[in-house]
Amino acid sequence: MSPSHTTTARTAEDRPLRAGVMGWPVAHSKSPLIFAHWFAETGIAGSYSRIAVPPEDFGQAFRALPGSGLCGVNVTIPHKLAALDLADEASPAARAIGAANTIRIDPDSRIFADNTDGYGFIENLREGAPAWDPGAGPALVLGAGGAARAVIHALLEAGVPAIRLANRSRDKAETLAAHFGPRVEPLDWVARDGATGGAATIVNTTSLGMTGNPPLALALDDAPPTALITDIVYAPLETPLLAAARARGLAAVDGLGMLLHQARPGFRAWFGADPAVTPALRRAVLEGAA
Ligand code: ATR
Repeated sequence: MSPSHTTTARTAEDRPLRAGVMGWPVAHSKSPLIFAHWFAETGIAGSYSRIAVPPEDFGQAFRALPGSGLCGVNVTIPHKLAALDLADEASPAARAIGAANTIRIDPDSRIFADNTDGYGFIENLREGAPAWDPGAGPALVLGAGGAARAVIHALLEAGVPAIRLANRSRDKAETLAAHFGPRVEPLDWVARDGATGGAATIVNTTSLGMTGNPPLALALDDAPPTALITDIVYAPLETPLLAAARARGLAAVDGLGMLLHQARPGFRAWFGADPAVTPALRRAVLEGAA
């Protein structure tokens, strides 16, 4: 093997220690903060950068990844569906969700697509609410966009017996129910309050509650006292939904951990270490200027 003529750090197998996140826009991405924290913690001399790719250039940029000097990338909005389509191989999770967020370039130049959003969602619940039992009862999921697909897949894999899926546009809830099968029941948006009755797990996957958006209006009066409420929105960390849940004495888990945990499989695959999600990481991501 010839010695490397570049200054790029490499693994023992001579893979470059460079990764990044492809998106459009990508300036807001918090992923570089997560990776910078883990590089410092593990001592791995890697790099992770933002890669701004407009939709019209994505196909070419993605297929050019082998030989680019990158060992992998995260893919974010609006490229997650295209990444799955363009990859050579995909994990069962990516295929079931219909989108990819974590891409590995194999030594034979094949592009492997995975989706770790559902994994991040479940890991966040397990960490934030260790007593959570997915099998305890049906889940209520609000929203039927891209994030809902990962959440529904993860809940079904975790053993949730049934999912009530309420979305403003009912047709999208029906499309997801048809995709995921009979354990998912589409509901009208106006039926969401009643659907909290008997729900063991309640998840907001809409953009409601995010800074600048109206709050999610959801009455929790019928929710069982043992229900776990979680939000994939993490800005603000304490959404009105989570605050209302805590005020009623219900367990509530914020959405930041989903973002942090979904990054772990990429770090493992590209850099060979298994970093932890710690309070220090949470602080670094919340406070960090990118
Ligand atoms: P993501 O990929 O983050 O899930 P998305 O695909 O744009 O983003 O989905 C956003 C979700 O928030 C959708 O379920 C959307 O409902 P529609 O399918 O009816 O658009 C939901 N959403 C956004 N604004 C909403 C609002 N004001 N009221 C109710 N639901 C809303």
